[in-house]
Amino acid sequence: MKKIITLIVTAAFVAVNHLAVAQEKTKTVFSFEPLPYAYDALEKAIDAQTMEIHYSRHHKAYFDNFIKAIAGTDMEYMTLEEIFGSMSKFPASVRNNGGGFYNHSLFWAVMSPDGGQPSAALEKAIVSTFGSMEEFRKQFEKAGATRFGSGWAWLSVDAQGKLFISSTANQDNPLMDVVAERGTPVLGLDVWEHAYYLRYQNKRASYMEAFWQVVNWNEVNRRYQEAMGAK
Ligand SMILES: [Fe+2]
Repeated sequence: MKKIITLIVTAAFVAVNHLAVAQEKTKTVFSFEPLPYAYDALEKAIDAQTMEIHYSRHHKAYFDNFIKAIAGTDMEYMTLEEIFGSMSKFPASVRNNGGGFYNHSLFWAVMSPDGGQPSAALEKAIVSTFGSMEEFRKQFEKAGATRFGSGWAWLSVDAQGKLFISSTANQDNPLMDVVAERGTPVLGLDVWEHAYYLRYQNKRASYMEAFWQVVNWNEVNRRYQEAMGAK
């Protein structure tokens, strides 16, 4: 009898514990956010049709396919940063679509029709790292221009709090453990043809030059401050 009671108590204890663990585990909310401005708001650099197709079709497809790729896995409980930090352990569908989802979300945020100027702290860091704002822009554009095929140009903060420029292929980004130069991106530029082909055709350099007119420095400043605060 004593043995039976012990078994029942043990079973009840295990059940309660399982319930507690199940209740603690909450799914991460991944959401497809609205574009923070109208499709034609960035006309001085990017045409409305490109913005509409890019956001409502390309970005939406990355988001939908990412949600499908993580369904029923532990990744539903992880943040994008956690997933990217262990990217090498996960399938290519998560790398491509999770990357596409994150990269485009960042891209929309770091653009604006009226984005202010680099903060004193960011400008100081850019000048001390690259020599001047002009030299920084040149090196950033070069990173995008020399990316063969599709990919991104980035300005990021590394683990030591130092700025660096890099380029990644396809939908990779500097948060992923599969890329050579790792850090926290504060500015990103999409250099896939779908980002510029309608207005600029094959002239990627002209698109990159125009990009500076719509950079949302207020957001880049915020991301830089946040990345430095985490050091
Ligand atoms: Fe894109």
